Amino acid sequence: MLNRFMVVSWVSRTVHSLVMAAKYNVVFVLGGPGAGKGTQCAKIVEKFGYVHLSAGDLLREERAKSGSEYGELIDGHIKNGTIVPVEITCRLLERAMKNSEKNDFLIDGFPRNKNNYEGWNKEMGDKTDLKFVLFFTCPLEVCTQRCLDRGAAGSGRTDDNIESLKKRFDTYMNATMPIIEHYESKGLVRTIDATRDVDEIFDEVSKLFA
Ligand code: ADP
Ligand code: C5P
Ligand code: MG
Repeated sequence: MLNRFMVVSWVSRTVHSLVMAAKYNVVFVLGGPGAGKGTQCAKIVEKFGYVHLSAGDLLREERAKSGSEYGELIDGHIKNGTIVPVEITCRLLERAMKNSEKNDFLIDGFPRNKNNYEGWNKEMGDKTDLKFVLFFTCPLEVCTQRCLDRGAAGSGRTDDNIESLKKRFDTYMNATMPIIEHYESKGLVRTIDATRDVDEIFDEVSKLFA
């Protein structure tokens, strides 16, 4: 015989699991400019079926839209290596997540500073299940060379030049590292040495998703 307690407990477990199922699964991907975030994300997409959302790519797309009210503002931040206000970035990320049929997201290059972190938690914290933070470590000199090579190979990016790179590294050290350290203190960071070759790195990355 079912008693009232059993029914209430079943309803509550069912509601809980429905709410959990409706949440977005998120892995944040962080690391210095040129550490190889985009390269590894592409491989994770291919092997594990995640959706890759690069905050930088979304901002560049928004900047390119004719008539975008934020185009100029985004352009200034990208050239200066500074961080666009979270309201803009978070809206772009949420729109892309809502438009996706899948539920597993790699959010690359976000959260980049305290404003990103707090804005995301306020707007998206309850709607997401943060699995872990994938952190690619790579010395500044290696990252710089990779970005300069990417520019020379025709990335067309306005920030793959030495002046912008200096500013991007300042932002990374002063604004992004404290966020990574904060996640580290919560036991959420999975650190990967990104100086090796692409496939060797991916072998290690794969173990985190398998
Ligand atoms: P991020 O998204 O972190 O800025 P990218 O994935 O765009 O970095 O990589 C930056 C540049 O370095 C690209 O030209 C890419 O082809 C190259 N690259 C990525 N990973 C490696 C690696 N492990 N070794 C050498 N070059 C790499
Ligand atoms: O990650 P990516 O190198 O593509 O980012 C390029 C630029 O986009 C950053 O230097 C920054 O100006 C902007 N950006 C941002 N906020 C983010 C991610 C990127 O303002 N969360
Ligand atoms: Mg990238």
